[in-house]
Amino acid sequence: MAYEAAFAEADPELYARSKAALAAVPGSLLTGIDGTIPVLDPATGEEIATIPNHTVETALEAVTLADAAGRAWAKTTPRKRSDVLHAVYAKLIENRDDLALIMSREMGKTITESYAEVQYAADYVRWYAEEALRAGGSYRESPQGGSTMVTTRGPVGLAVLITPWNFPMAMATRKIAPALAAGCGCVVKPATLTPLTTYLTVKLFEEAGVPAGLVQVITTNNASAFSEAVITDDRVRKVSFTGSTPVGSTLMRLAAKNIVKSSMELGGNAPLLVFDDADLDRAIEGAMLAKMRNGGQTCVSANRMFIQEGIADDFIAGFTEKMAGLVQGNPLNREVELGPVVDGRAVERLQHLVADATAKGADLRTGGTKLDRAGHFFEATVLDNVPVAADITTTEIFGPIASITRVKTQEEAIAKANDTCFGLAAFVFTENVDRAFNVAEALETGMVGINNGLLSNVAAPFGGVKQSGIGREGSSEGLEEYQEIRYFTMQRRETV
Ligand code: SIN
Repeated sequence: MAYEAAFAEADPELYARSKAALAAVPGSLLTGIDGTIPVLDPATGEEIATIPNHTVETALEAVTLADAAGRAWAKTTPRKRSDVLHAVYAKLIENRDDLALIMSREMGKTITESYAEVQYAADYVRWYAEEALRAGGSYRESPQGGSTMVTTRGPVGLAVLITPWNFPMAMATRKIAPALAAGCGCVVKPATLTPLTTYLTVKLFEEAGVPAGLVQVITTNNASAFSEAVITDDRVRKVSFTGSTPVGSTLMRLAAKNIVKSSMELGGNAPLLVFDDADLDRAIEGAMLAKMRNGGQTCVSANRMFIQEGIADDFIAGFTEKMAGLVQGNPLNREVELGPVVDGRAVERLQHLVADATAKGADLRTGGTKLDRAGHFFEATVLDNVPVAADITTTEIFGPIASITRVKTQEEAIAKANDTCFGLAAFVFTENVDRAFNVAEALETGMVGINNGLLSNVAAPFGGVKQSGIGREGSSEGLEEYQEIRYFTMQRRETV
């Protein structure tokens, strides 16, 4: 039986709800299109909607509209921007059911994780509603005396926001909310794999009071033509991108033309270190979260696990048992803990990584294959004794495969962890507080989770070092990415 029919029979109420949610996704008001792009459900491979394939001319029209609206928005008071963003937060929460259903259908994440993402995404809006009131600036005396120096932080100007498919709502709000809080208009280009959540999110922004036109959404299957035309347009002053390092590098080259301020949240190859003195249960639980959140499809997912020899057998046995026990299936079923991966290309990549690692000597502890059913399902997989030569040690896995290497010493673990051009995130498990901080300091990454498999938090500066990116998202630092610092000096005669 086709999935749609089976789903309708198994849970008619949820099925009707998900169809209604899909029907509620707004179309684009921008009409210049070159055909449409199908949106597929990764759980079935079936088409669930189509979106416009906007032309480059339409993208430039979006720039014109967002630029005009942005200039008016920049003149509003911080209180006004804050109030509107608070109203957006409430609107997103009110519509959490539709948002979560659409997200699971277009991206394949479990419904539990979709609800968690709606809250995470809305929290960015609430956070920047609060930060909008704290735009910053300073008042200083010149060191020589005789003059006063004032710095201000104003909106940087029109922002182009390019978002990925793995967190279609949270990565959008993590960029749109600080842009609006700072006083910028924006053009958002979501990934064509998961555009529906973004379309609905932006519609809800408008329903909550964000002026029409201020946030434009463009969908296109010609991403390079879009970037080339839009990022080099004279009116654009900011680009923020989440995605791969090669694409980020290309976008930075385009941004260089007009010296456009850039934030890049790029590829990762996160190491996860478990030392002999770790609490075993805590380490297993943390590793499950660090590896399996979003089905392993996050840029901070534990990509390489380095486990010290004294704890390795127990850790690997316990971790493998948990991985093998995950309930996999229809992501809309609340019991399900692991849905499909995003598309067929992802399955092919995962198959290659397992075949390559085992051919080079890795031991397969569980999983390793694509499920024999419709959709793009790949088993939760554990590879042990993975050699350095395996492709999986240098490739961003983006799926439910854990790659484990056993290490003898702390020095070996740190050296192996740092042996990568990426530096986004790392995880350390130890009960020794000195070791925790010493190792965290020695790891060349922008973020470290200590006895904690979850780094993401709206109040944290999310971002990487080395080739994992530039700039930070979330926290007060995330607002600064959409601001320009200016400085005024005033000479002062003594009058008192
Ligand atoms: C990402 O995978 O790009 C972001 C993950 C997060 O915010 O937790």
